[in-house]
Amino acid sequence: GPGLFGARANSKGWDLTDALDLAAIETARTPHATALFEAAPMLAGRTAGGIRHEVRNPATGALVGHVVDAATPDVETALRLAEPWSAAPAERAAVLNRAADLYEAEYGRIFALLARESGKTLADAVGELREAVDFLRYYASGAAALSQPARGLFTCISPWNFPLAIFTGQVAAALAAGNAVLAKPAEQTPLIAALAIGLLHKAGVPATALQFLPGDGAVVGRALTSDPRVKGVAFTGSTETALLIRRAMAEHLDPTAPLIAETGGLNAMIVDSTALPEQAVRDVLASSFQSAGQRCSALRCLYVQEDVAEAVEEMLFGAMQELALGDPWQLATDVGPVIDAEAQAGIAAYIARARAEGRVMHEMPAPAGCFVGPTVIRVGGIADLPGEIFGPVLHVARFRAAEIDAVVDAINATGYGLTFGLHTRIDDRVQRIVSRVRVGNIYVNRNQIGAVVGSQPFGGEGLSGTGPKAGGPDYLARFASAPVDVTVA
Ligand code: SER
Repeated sequence: GPGLFGARANSKGWDLTDALDLAAIETARTPHATALFEAAPMLAGRTAGGIRHEVRNPATGALVGHVVDAATPDVETALRLAEPWSAAPAERAAVLNRAADLYEAEYGRIFALLARESGKTLADAVGELREAVDFLRYYASGAAALSQPARGLFTCISPWNFPLAIFTGQVAAALAAGNAVLAKPAEQTPLIAALAIGLLHKAGVPATALQFLPGDGAVVGRALTSDPRVKGVAFTGSTETALLIRRAMAEHLDPTAPLIAETGGLNAMIVDSTALPEQAVRDVLASSFQSAGQRCSALRCLYVQEDVAEAVEEMLFGAMQELALGDPWQLATDVGPVIDAEAQAGIAAYIARARAEGRVMHEMPAPAGCFVGPTVIRVGGIADLPGEIFGPVLHVARFRAAEIDAVVDAINATGYGLTFGLHTRIDDRVQRIVSRVRVGNIYVNRNQIGAVVGSQPFGGEGLSGTGPKAGGPDYLARFASAPVDVTVA
């Protein structure tokens, strides 16, 4: 048997260096290379909705499918028909574990859609499916241990950058605790979310416990966060939107209704003169440019100690030249597109301003489509960043040895607190900096992306989120009512 502590293992995923795994993936995803996908509201078993939009591949512009947006009356229908999931915790856990198995079985369809709808490279898609499966199994394992009743009705609003993993994580936690869920996916990625909802229903989640409302944040999102029947909101996205949601909740919801928000980051890494340059460069590359920099954990500002800065920067620019940009469907692609033309235009305009100021140190050409070439911009320090630039843009600052504490102060002063990276071989320095930097996730001598469910719970502080951390032991309890202590004399 699995033993006391071995009852849950993370998904083994797929090994992209294994020819058999690769061949299996090719076979499984090929039938979904051009098929059109559809998404529409799912309201306790009924479909409904209004305007139908096209969904296009950000890399190629090709049609991926269509989504029917939920209309305002659909929100009312969903609120009226929602019923908390009354099954016993062990039954809820069994259903979520079954969903995890279905997700893994559907990997071909999922990898295809992650590439086509959200521009994910195969490596990213593999990581994303694993994380989704891990969330399902992790929260399933927590369901049985939860002694508190459900809060009732939860709204889950998910981002486009992890359209499967974070969407699934929020929904799975709310369901594991026994709530009814109203799920609103990001406008850019409704198709993969609809696929996930289909699998959750197929696994046995009742249609009244899990309803799906794709649509506009300003209409559907707002309505789902300003109705007193909603007893809690899980949101991942921008810090600005989290503040809007908090305001709506304060005005309309029960004052005890929690907002569980994971928001932006302004993440730094310090590389000192004792770091191994090759290792640091490899980890900077992954932290900044994997997923086209569209992770809230991504490195935005690299501090390199002056003594080694020139050598490290030169090595970094050389390594960047090896990055392959292109259609994420191709195995050789390292960096796919950004999510849409609007994101591309915003990032490109930012780079253009930096270029005009003579601060672009290195940049790569972008292919046609919604691409941004990985770019490195010189800054004096993290305070020069205008905010989170959500794309493949790295800022680099230099520091002198004596300034290292001031660098940490500057990082803390941003008000964000999500991830932080440190490359050094001085143990005292690790201790000192780790104890001073105020972020949720610290990575020493490795890259700073890709937190792992159950072993690296993920989440930040300050402007980066409310906690509790996703994939950690405290997350589930926030979706349940306050514990009741009964004392019988
Ligand atoms: N969980 C993701 C990561 O750690 C969030 O961006 O990279």
